[in-house]
Amino acid sequence: MSVRVVIGAQWGDEGKGKIVDLLSDKAEYVVRYQGGANAGHTLKFDDKTVVLHLIPSGIFNGDAHCVIGNGVVIDPIALVKEIEGVKEMGFQLEGRFHISQTAHVILPYHKLLDQLKEKRRAGNAIGTTGRGIGPAYVSKVSRVGIRMVDLLDKEVLKSKIEQNIADINFALENLYKEPTLSADDLMAELDDSINTLSPFICNTTNMLHEGLEANKSILLEGAQGSLLDVDHGTYPYVTSSSPTSGGACTGSGVPPTALTHVMGITKAYCTRVGNGPFPTELHDDMGEELRKKGHEFGATTGRPRRCGWLDLVALKYACRINGINELTLTKMDVMDGFDEIQVCTSYIIDGKETKVFPLSLTEIEKIEPVYTALPGWDKDISGMTKWDELPEAAKSYINYVEEYLGVKFTIISTGPKRTETIIR
Ligand code: IMP
Repeated sequence: MSVRVVIGAQWGDEGKGKIVDLLSDKAEYVVRYQGGANAGHTLKFDDKTVVLHLIPSGIFNGDAHCVIGNGVVIDPIALVKEIEGVKEMGFQLEGRFHISQTAHVILPYHKLLDQLKEKRRAGNAIGTTGRGIGPAYVSKVSRVGIRMVDLLDKEVLKSKIEQNIADINFALENLYKEPTLSADDLMAELDDSINTLSPFICNTTNMLHEGLEANKSILLEGAQGSLLDVDHGTYPYVTSSSPTSGGACTGSGVPPTALTHVMGITKAYCTRVGNGPFPTELHDDMGEELRKKGHEFGATTGRPRRCGWLDLVALKYACRINGINELTLTKMDVMDGFDEIQVCTSYIIDGKETKVFPLSLTEIEKIEPVYTALPGWDKDISGMTKWDELPEAAKSYINYVEEYLGVKFTIISTGPKRTETIIR
């Protein structure tokens, strides 16, 4: 039995989808625990490319129960579209897809507010995905949120929507100078989705507890990345949930004492999408080359991702806050053909060298990265499946990173397909 959390150890887009898909054939439950349709998990198998936003990435490999946990915020309309897409591909959801009763609902007004707030922030915009994530978590934390279980009782749902909409209309009219919304229109908009989603809504917390008691294997799938965590990330340029391992417990009901593995996923370089500090960002041709070679465009919004060298100071911080005890390296093949590969091994802040990731935004913005150059390799490693096939320089690169972090890489990804993987 294993209870493994799969976490993004950078700013998201590390390739968690591929790894969760790969590990799913040995899992009995695969659980998404936070975030919403801001995530875009790209999977490639049998010559198919699929992007999932809400359904756990385990749905295509094996027959694990796939659960959307209580920590996720769900856009019912987006989820129904995704369900239809998965069914069209010939995959069955009935009996193996489950939605937590206590996951919160993203309503159209959350998306509207997300976009209006970003516009108002102007030069200080977060660069959100515009999917309503922040406003939905605001509703949750301010205790006016609507939960999936509320969709099952239309009277309760209507009265909650009416209460919420009064405040939202006040803001739309007086602050944003936008047309107001009607509860009846919203109810009508939700009608079809409610019918589709109702059979999947259940007590997933109890389902997972029974799974634990029966020694079943559970895979907890994070979205975004540790440096976008609302507590531990580069606040305020973060998402509104906890992608870190603590969030896996609060977002699923699986207790911390049950976790057996915490797997951190890192690319062989760094990317970030949206605004906010990025100490090793490259604004030159090298950044452009990484973007092109790594196809670094957002899976949800299509935005070009900012690219830079691997930041070991930030990665060590991610290992510590998550308790990462195994690592996966993705996009290793993108590093083929460079004479030298730089890795950031310390920072200079106000003239002082440090290996500690700073927590204040002012300090983060002052970081001057200090790099160590490692030899590159000529060989094309894409698609390799054996450690012994890797060129010596690639092995040395991996060994160097492992030594710095004090954690071993158990999986190395050499391409986007399920099969293009080295398991150690
Ligand atoms: P939000 O999660 O849409 O509120 O966006 C907040 C920040 O998180 C923005 O910088 C987004 O670009 C970033 N973000 C959200 N989801 C993802 C993701 O799945 N990958 C990478 N960045 C993300």
